Amino acid sequence: MNIVDLNNVTKKYFINKNKEHQKVLDKVSLNIQKGEIIGFIGANGSGKSTTIRAILDLIRIESGKIEKNTKSIGYLPEKTKLYKDLTGREFLSFVSSLNTNSLKRSSVIDLLERLQIQNDQEKRIKNYSKGMIQKLGFVSALINDPELVILDEPLSGVDINAREIIKDIIKEFSKDGKSFFITSHNMQDIADLSNRIIKIVNGRIEFNGLAQEYFYDLNQTYRIKYLKENVVSEVVADESSLSESLQGLKEKKYKLLNVIKIERSIL
Ligand SMILES: Nc1ncnc2c1ncn2[C@@H]1O[C@H](COP(=O)(O)OP(=O)(O)OP(=O)(O)O)[C@@H](O)[C@H]1O
Ligand SMILES: [Mg+2]
Repeated sequence: MNIVDLNNVTKKYFINKNKEHQKVLDKVSLNIQKGEIIGFIGANGSGKSTTIRAILDLIRIESGKIEKNTKSIGYLPEKTKLYKDLTGREFLSFVSSLNTNSLKRSSVIDLLERLQIQNDQEKRIKNYSKGMIQKLGFVSALINDPELVILDEPLSGVDINAREIIKDIIKEFSKDGKSFFITSHNMQDIADLSNRIIKIVNGRIEFNGLAQEYFYDLNQTYRIKYLKENVVSEVVADESSLSESLQGLKEKKYKLLNVIKIERSIL
């Protein structure tokens, strides 16, 4: 049984006083299954956060159906509005008081330590840095031990080390059966994490399939580095245009430096 099922969900927003509207979600159908990590991708304004708000009943949809087979959903919004006057500790205990389920205290401390915000628990959130707020929001999305965790750009503003730690934590929880629905503009992070990719373009689902299919079925891509008037330059070519590009550089007498196969065509 799916944890979440969206069937032909349509959402419109009025864009001016003449009641003209924009279809932000156009018959969106998708599902989330137990234990999977879904990378939900798409350009700015394509409808990712709107889809998430619809799943969480934060907005009213015009038509379609949303079915949920769980009450426990953790959520990290894209714009975290944490209660600024609370300390980190107060905020986490407030969030955990909203639900009967919760992670063990030792697991929460472990998460805070791994994310290196354990020593900041007595600080008020208004004095947290951007990355610290993001990390605290991430822990708050997990604290009630939900079956499904929805993370809207969890890695934005987070440093390289913390990024890897957050990704490890997500993978560990997913092994224990939690489902994750994650948006990110960083394709490397999406590739590292996701079992399944769902891509939305202008409010329509354009791809919904295994991550391997998404990343490996595209043409192989190559990055060609060369010297042009003593400046290192590069072009990207796919399988079909590689020899043509190399020939072009040779004709212009540019010195070829190297050709790197980009393992995953994620650029
Ligand atoms: N409350 C609102 N009123 C009017 N239009 C809205 C509202 N919320 C979102 N939109 C519009 O819906 C479209 C989709 O927005 P959404 O926030 O879902 O995009 P997104 O895919 O999350 O983008 P991003 O990658 O920038 O976060 C945009 O055109 C946006 O302007
Ligand atoms: Mg968004």
